[in-house]
Amino acid sequence: MATEKKVTAIKNTPKHLLGIQNLSVLEAKEILNEAKSFIKLNRGSSKKLDVLRGKTQINLFFEPSTRTQSSFDLAGKRLGADVMTINMGNSALKKGETLIDTAMTLNAMHPDIIVIRHQDSGAPNLLSQKVNCTVINAGDGRREHPTQALLDALTIINRKGNIEGLKIAICGDILHSRVARSNIYLMNMLGAEVNVIAPKTLMPKGIDNLGVRSFTDMKKGLDGCDIVMMLRLQNERMQGSFLPSKREYYEFFGLTPEKLKFAKKDALLMHPGPMNRGVEIDTKLADDINVSLVKEQVELGVAVRMACLKLYCK
Ligand code: NCD
Repeated sequence: MATEKKVTAIKNTPKHLLGIQNLSVLEAKEILNEAKSFIKLNRGSSKKLDVLRGKTQINLFFEPSTRTQSSFDLAGKRLGADVMTINMGNSALKKGETLIDTAMTLNAMHPDIIVIRHQDSGAPNLLSQKVNCTVINAGDGRREHPTQALLDALTIINRKGNIEGLKIAICGDILHSRVARSNIYLMNMLGAEVNVIAPKTLMPKGIDNLGVRSFTDMKKGLDGCDIVMMLRLQNERMQGSFLPSKREYYEFFGLTPEKLKFAKKDALLMHPGPMNRGVEIDTKLADDINVSLVKEQVELGVAVRMACLKLYCK
């Protein structure tokens, strides 16, 4: 008797997760639905499945990471994969090896999935053309960070029930933020209205073409918002001077309890981390369990990464 195969939206697409821009609504929703089933598992006492048993997952991190790296690490292990994490700071990269050489070396070891974070926009796409396995983007330059946007979406759905019809503000260093770009694509795709708020120097030119409204004033930008997503100043991507001082930045763009009042009464606060307390966010507000979803974002991040690994690793 022929066994019936589950029909999935992701089945016939390329087996890489390189960005939200390449996803369809159906694919995004399928990942979010799959992730929901892992939330409960992750809260239980027995967290191990054998969905990826026999598969090899390599996490290739060319940039520092705490949350994303440990999240992918745990996600793979909970699905039963053999997981190896390579921190490229300590690798042959220091001896001048290129991304392509590294890719060819790792490919020869027959991995099934490579998760990559890289400082150059487009590095995961390049890697995906050189290896035989699934490639998942864990953040590339200022381009995309798809699993962060997906975990943000899951966190919002978990609290608000839906994304459609919500008004979401993304505030801070929009210019250098891959989190902002992936979230703009995903939240728009799922039917939210998106405002971006930044000083002029940190607002990318042509941002309005991405279907957002842009503001340089927190009061106007936060008006009527259900979700306030704060971003870190990405100093490592800044060459030259973008801001007069951190103190002045906090004054105008740091989220304080007073500024949060410009948003809706029941507005919730998000941050992908790492947070710079006292720079983009008031430290007490960041820890206020009545408004801050920061811990939930980290928790649901593991569920989202499990869903991505399961759905993309064939
Ligand atoms: C973000 C990143 O690396 O893009 N962090 C993360 O993945 N949790 C945001 C940031 O570094 O500010």
